[in-house]
Amino acid sequence: MAVSISFVMVFSVLVFAPVCFCHYLYPQFYEYTCPQAQEIVQSVVAKAVAREARMAASLLRLHFHDCFVKGCDGSILLDSSGTIISEKGALPNKNSARGFEVIDEIKSELEKACPQTISCADILALAARDSTVLAGGPSWEVPLGRRDSTGASLSGSNNNIPAPNNTLPTIITKFKLKGLDLVDLVALSGSHTIGLARCTVFRQRLYNQSGNGQPDPTLDQSYAAQLRSGCPRSGGDNNLFPLDFITPTKFDNYYFKNIIESKGLLSSDQILFTKSEETMKLVKQYAENNDLFIEQFAKSMVKMGNISPLTGPRGEIRKNCRRINGY
Ligand code: HEM
Ligand SMILES: *[C@@H]1O[C@H](CO)[C@@H](O)[C@H](O)[C@H]1NC(C)=O
Ligand SMILES: *[C@@H]1O[C@H](CO)[C@@H](O)[C@H](O)[C@H]1NC(C)=O
Repeated sequence: MAVSISFVMVFSVLVFAPVCFCHYLYPQFYEYTCPQAQEIVQSVVAKAVAREARMAASLLRLHFHDCFVKGCDGSILLDSSGTIISEKGALPNKNSARGFEVIDEIKSELEKACPQTISCADILALAARDSTVLAGGPSWEVPLGRRDSTGASLSGSNNNIPAPNNTLPTIITKFKLKGLDLVDLVALSGSHTIGLARCTVFRQRLYNQSGNGQPDPTLDQSYAAQLRSGCPRSGGDNNLFPLDFITPTKFDNYYFKNIIESKGLLSSDQILFTKSEETMKLVKQYAENNDLFIEQFAKSMVKMGNISPLTGPRGEIRKNCRRINGY
């Protein structure tokens, strides 16, 4: 009897519940608790990008590196302390992930306006969108309501984020593990229409790609010669080069046009054209049709932003993006 009564109760709660027990992200999440949140984020990002155009690229990348490790939960922002080993020291982030001071500035403005309300994970998602717009790319509504992790994963960062010398099947697998398909991979790689990369991440292509002492044959040889002049065989590891040498601070489809001309900077860029018929077709489509690219980019960014968020009672709203609460 007790069993059937509780069954009926559970059943009726599930069917007639006036509120949704499901937890998903939606753009109006802070509509009542902090209506000015999006304006605050936008204005700090705009100031930062006005100071330095590259910051748009750096903030966009932070959201990607956050989402691929334990989901979009702000884990990348945590500094090492106590039991936490910061993801900032992982190979994909060390000496290249940047923009943390801008996130701090946004967070401190938001804490003044709406204490402990806006998550650091949502700040990253909003800053990525605003950065894209400021660089001349598409806009989209950002689903919100992510909460912040109380931990970080150094190994997750090293293993889940694709490396520039990974094979195409490896990169495809790393995206698939996050629920992202080939269309998402090619469109999101279009982020490399802005920003810079260090000599060390593509040097191998210039001198000894396959261990035969030869440069990568899929790299335009005069472009390679140009790159060699700033990226020597040894030394100059941190010398910087635009990922899109035609319009390095403008969000457009020159990234794809460059790839077609064998002028993709990273191996992971060029192989989208040389190692699979399917990704090659997408590269061609986006190179020919900027509208198609930016429309898909916006969709894929929302999809990436939905990777395993912490919602409802899970996680917390950090007061300081660098530390979990209570530390
Ligand atoms: C497909 C696999 C990807 C690989 C292998 C890759 C790899 C890299 C590498 C090696 C750099 C240069 C880092 C350095 O100098 O050490 C870089 C920069 C960058 N990446 Fe990616 N990336 C990938 C996908 C993405 C995605 C999905 C996004 C965004 C949604 C993104 C956004 C960026 C941006 C904007 C920069 C420039 C950052 C700056 O100038 O501060 N990348 N990427
Ligand atoms: C890829 O790059 C990493 C880091 O520089 C290096 O340790 C590794 O040997 C490279 N792998 C291949 C297959 O070249
Ligand atoms: C190229 O790399 C291979 C294997 O990593 C190495 O044995 C060879 O000595 C290198 N050649 C040059 C010219 O650096």
